[in-house]
Amino acid sequence: MLKNFWYAVHESAAIAETPVKVRLLGRDLALVRGEGGHVLALDDRCPHRGAALSDGWRAGNCLACPYHGWQFQSDGACVRIPANRPGQPVPKKARVGAYPTAERYGWVWVFVGDLAEEERPPLPPLPEYGDPDWRALHGEFLWNAHYTRVVENGMDFAHAPFVHARSFGNPDKPVVPDYEVELDAWSATASAVLEPPDPPGLWKWVRRKQRPGVRTSVSFYMPTFTRLDVDLGRFQLIVFDSNIPIDEEHTLTRWIMLRNFFKGAWADGDARRRTMQIFLEDQPIVEAQRPREVPAAMSDELHVRSDAMPLAYRKLRRDLLARGWGLDG
Ligand code: FES
Ligand SMILES: [Fe+2]
Repeated sequence: MLKNFWYAVHESAAIAETPVKVRLLGRDLALVRGEGGHVLALDDRCPHRGAALSDGWRAGNCLACPYHGWQFQSDGACVRIPANRPGQPVPKKARVGAYPTAERYGWVWVFVGDLAEEERPPLPPLPEYGDPDWRALHGEFLWNAHYTRVVENGMDFAHAPFVHARSFGNPDKPVVPDYEVELDAWSATASAVLEPPDPPGLWKWVRRKQRPGVRTSVSFYMPTFTRLDVDLGRFQLIVFDSNIPIDEEHTLTRWIMLRNFFKGAWADGDARRRTMQIFLEDQPIVEAQRPREVPAAMSDELHVRSDAMPLAYRKLRRDLLARGWGLDG
């Protein structure tokens, strides 16, 4: 698991006055929105007697512990101990681990690491979010799988004809055309013209005029984000995934599906079902992969030409681990 990155861990709208517990990278965090609107993210263990801060309450721009009411501000420092008599100082050591937060694309982001603000890798771009030409839909999907397998699945062209034969994969057209990997410091993109079958149901007419090829792009952004673009000509759709490493065994994908057609709320249910179906198709395959974590050595698994994207991801990840950006486990 990688440090020094921003992780999108929760939907913004759900973070308000009542603290919420979030699990990330094997640790528990307590999130709460201070009265001023800023989201606090603190380790969910009070340094006094180990109570869970997420069971506490908001006190102004602080989070108060449920046990003895100590109050912690956004940088983790305790600023009030109710049992102390007035004037008694708060010990310097009375502080809890704290994480910088940001809000974008309807998500709360937490920075995990030790880099100064100007050195931190940027949040991945998603310029279509908030654009009135696009309808955005949020959802989530829980995997019993290591995040590296989930992330690679999100950039893998070659599995669609087999795993997604009932949705967008075409079992009669399994060949992946040679594609270029456009590599950046923190991300990569590749695109290929695929030949999926006509989508069933309501979306059938969306594709009608564009047959036979559909330009499909996949991207990843370190450490755990993936993006799928399906270009149907006039109509396009995007699935952007925040694949949250909850711990070594579980990954929570928070996804945003954007479409520039059928933009009314009436089509949301159908769009949600289609997005969830793709995850459900992937789930048994990804959860059964062994080893659970993508191996560190490139030679431990086999790669062919169509694996250029996952290979680029593995190399970037390996380089970051070599730089000392790995967390335990
Ligand atoms: S355990 Fe948190 S204030 Fe005592
Ligand atoms: Fe898939």
